[in-house]
Amino acid sequence: MRRTHRRTAVLTASALAVPLLVTAPAAAAPPHEVPRGGETAGELLVIGHRGASGYRPEHTLASYELAARMGADYIEPDVVSTSDGVLVARHENEISGTTDVAERPEFADRRTTRTIDGVELTGWFTEDFTLEELRSLRAVERLPEIREENTLYDGLYQVPTLDEVLELRAELSRELGREIGVYVETKHPTYFDGIDLSLEELLLADLREAGLDHHRSPVFIQSFETANLQELDQAGVRVPLVQLLSASGAPYDLVATGDDRTYADLSTAEGLADVAGYADGVGPEKAQVIPREDDGTLGEPTGFVDDAHAAGLLVHPYTFRNENTFLPADLRDGGAEDDYGRAIEEQLAFWEAGVDGLFTDNPDTGVVSRELFEEGAERPAA
Ligand code: G3P
Ligand code: CA
Repeated sequence: MRRTHRRTAVLTASALAVPLLVTAPAAAAPPHEVPRGGETAGELLVIGHRGASGYRPEHTLASYELAARMGADYIEPDVVSTSDGVLVARHENEISGTTDVAERPEFADRRTTRTIDGVELTGWFTEDFTLEELRSLRAVERLPEIREENTLYDGLYQVPTLDEVLELRAELSRELGREIGVYVETKHPTYFDGIDLSLEELLLADLREAGLDHHRSPVFIQSFETANLQELDQAGVRVPLVQLLSASGAPYDLVATGDDRTYADLSTAEGLADVAGYADGVGPEKAQVIPREDDGTLGEPTGFVDDAHAAGLLVHPYTFRNENTFLPADLRDGGAEDDYGRAIEEQLAFWEAGVDGLFTDNPDTGVVSRELFEEGAERPAA
């Protein structure tokens, strides 16, 4: 049974200066058993989105390590392939926004234009670099205007391989005395299939080599596409699979095959029941769980969580960030876009809506909001 640990509690959050109320325990909604880092199923997860990308350049070992040390249950590598078939952690295969490749004269001739998932992009692509070449690059902050502090670390870190992330996971699990999980996302799987660098086989080989291919391995595999997850399910992959969803658009594998189903279709009660045929959870965009009102303030929860739980699916929405620019209008504080707003209150609203975990760039904030929620706190009434 889920959330039996939740209780009405004396609040301990006064030091955080967050106005909180006490609430009665919510009704439990029990998705089927899914391992959480080798621990008890049904716990609420804090997933370090691209590591602790609120504090370090994303998808670097430094970002993942900080996430684990801040208390994240899972670290989240997005993976793409090099030309020689090695999975590396990047959000996109086009790497000009997160590395110093554009400043490297030796790679100037690699700049090119590609169509990725129907969108024409010009830049530098991981599939045009061997691992050795890619390793000569250095990571930089993606959002220097919002996260100027993180530019302090520009140029310090390499692009990690998935193998290195899995090794770091094992080392940190030993040191911290708890299993740190990996929540791996394959990026652009149809595209990589089309250039003979299919991601799934590489991923399974890396997981197998790390001993992470068992039923209780602390691993989730996630994707915005559908066919690859279905194939992994049919192949008998034992770790849980998560279908990512979006408030708009459609999975590219469906678009590519002329299937007109959209993310909205997959997100209905009927669609979620179909998803549950091959996946263990869903990763909706935040707005699918709690949309914003026309004035930008946080609205009321939809029926999404109930529908997903009724289908037996876990719900892990993305992405929670502390800065005003990412927060609902009523939870912003101060005048600047990069000032922190009342992110804890936003997260409390989502915990109250029944989500099973959340992806956050600020894992320490996620840990605090979860603790407050488990102690019985809820978002103050407007
Ligand atoms: O995987 C959950 C979330 O990370 C999806 O969004 O674009 O940050 O990979 P994205
Ligand atoms: Ca991701």
